[in-house]
Amino acid sequence: MLSRPFCDLDATIEEQAGMPVEKLFARRGESGFRAIEERAVEAALATGPRSVISLGGGAVGSAKTRALLAEHFVVWLEVDPDTAWARVRRSRRPLARSEAAFRALYEERLPLYRSLADATAADATSVVLAVGGVCHEDGSLDRLGELVPGEGPVALVADSTVLGLFGARARQALGARLASVHELPAGEEAKTIGVASALWSELSLDRGGTLVGLGGGCTTDLTGFVAACYLRGVPWVAVPTTLVGQVDAAIGGKTGIDIAQGKNLVGAFHWPARVVIDETLLATLPERERRQGMAELVKTRLLAGSELDARGAAAFKTALCLEDPHDRGRRRLLNLGHTFAHGLEAAAGFELPHGEAVALGLLAALRLSARDTGELERLLAPRPVEVDPERAWQALLRDKKRSGESINLVLLGDDGPYVAERPAAEVREALETLIAKPSLSRAS
Ligand SMILES: NC(=O)c1ccc[n+]([C@@H]2O[C@H](COP(=O)([O-])OP(=O)(O)OC[C@H]3O[C@@H](n4cnc5c(N)ncnc54)[C@H](O)[C@@H]3O)[C@@H](O)[C@H]2O)c1
Ligand SMILES: [Zn+2]
Repeated sequence: MLSRPFCDLDATIEEQAGMPVEKLFARRGESGFRAIEERAVEAALATGPRSVISLGGGAVGSAKTRALLAEHFVVWLEVDPDTAWARVRRSRRPLARSEAAFRALYEERLPLYRSLADATAADATSVVLAVGGVCHEDGSLDRLGELVPGEGPVALVADSTVLGLFGARARQALGARLASVHELPAGEEAKTIGVASALWSELSLDRGGTLVGLGGGCTTDLTGFVAACYLRGVPWVAVPTTLVGQVDAAIGGKTGIDIAQGKNLVGAFHWPARVVIDETLLATLPERERRQGMAELVKTRLLAGSELDARGAAAFKTALCLEDPHDRGRRRLLNLGHTFAHGLEAAAGFELPHGEAVALGLLAALRLSARDTGELERLLAPRPVEVDPERAWQALLRDKKRSGESINLVLLGDDGPYVAERPAAEVREALETLIAKPSLSRAS
């Protein structure tokens, strides 16, 4: 999922020794095996910080290994003793011969696992989320005080609607750590240099403080940007309360504001110290806002090629962004449908909601990929918009994806999404299928 090198320690040891672990155990005894294992862990950890390494359950018995692990991100794959026993009872693992002994060993190792773990996870999706600093858990808003890293003071930033809905719970959860509360205008109006500047003036945090952005993508984009520049960068935490935020905007460290020349033209890459996703907060979200997020969720499903839920979509975006934090390579795949969407939005003078533009853009991308559009039409019901086709085309060309007579855009191939080059005429034709002819009543 992270496109990183993977090393399974047991497999490596078996390969190097030329025999299975149980044989190695039988020949050298447990202490002999542990010595070999300790050296193998050290060698694997030395291959660099980007590898994903799976350790055997007993590897952390070595004090040297524990000391080495302190420098790395350690995820404890938590599994209850019954499940663990069910998995290994028929294996030939040397320490899984008697159930009683196995359970005793499990109990004995628990405190070690607990003390070493930077995060706990039960599946691959959770590991990816943990590595990205994402906590995805119902009720996590009420644990905000412990989820904001460190112990320093917190400045809470939210728009008035969100403060009305969740302000009291956030205040309570932050308790004594809460230093100040800052109210933003709702929506895109928050993403201006004026609002950022006012916030910089109001803040009285030192570098040990943390900004918490509670709200939709507008709030988290602005909060992250303010945090990126304040005192040359303080940590921030995103608590997304919209579907757009929970599957997209709060993840990946892109922060920013709008200027007169366009949306998101000023900003910074500033990865949040934590993203706290509590899906129960979406219960109050108006249907119109939910649809915005659905478009990004469907986009992510198309990219992943599977039926992801919101948590899976958050993990998918986290993985892509961890792989390419500065948007120079694979992260660009997240632009699926967006070349068309940006053209239509600009031509509509930004009156067209982003999600509706993305739904149309995805339709065009599927058509150009020769894919069936039935599912997309059922889920998002994209409807052609009335905009000036020439204006939409010019805006699409300005969207930085142009190379001569052809246009770069993300399409879906047999092996997944890729950046394709298509003739300008073909792209323009696809764009025009998204545009409605002005109706007679309007024209009159
Ligand atoms: N940084 C990124 O990677 C990224 C990605 C996608 C979008 N974005 C940005 O996100 C912004 C759009 O985000 P958005 O759609 O979340 O908009 P938003 O932040 O304006 O929120 C939409 C509205 O919903 C209200 N609201 C929020 N949570 C609510 C809840 N739980 N119940 C009821 N009402 C609630 C808000 O007050 C607001 O009026 C855009 O500016 C876009 O550029 C950024
Ligand atoms: Zn989008």
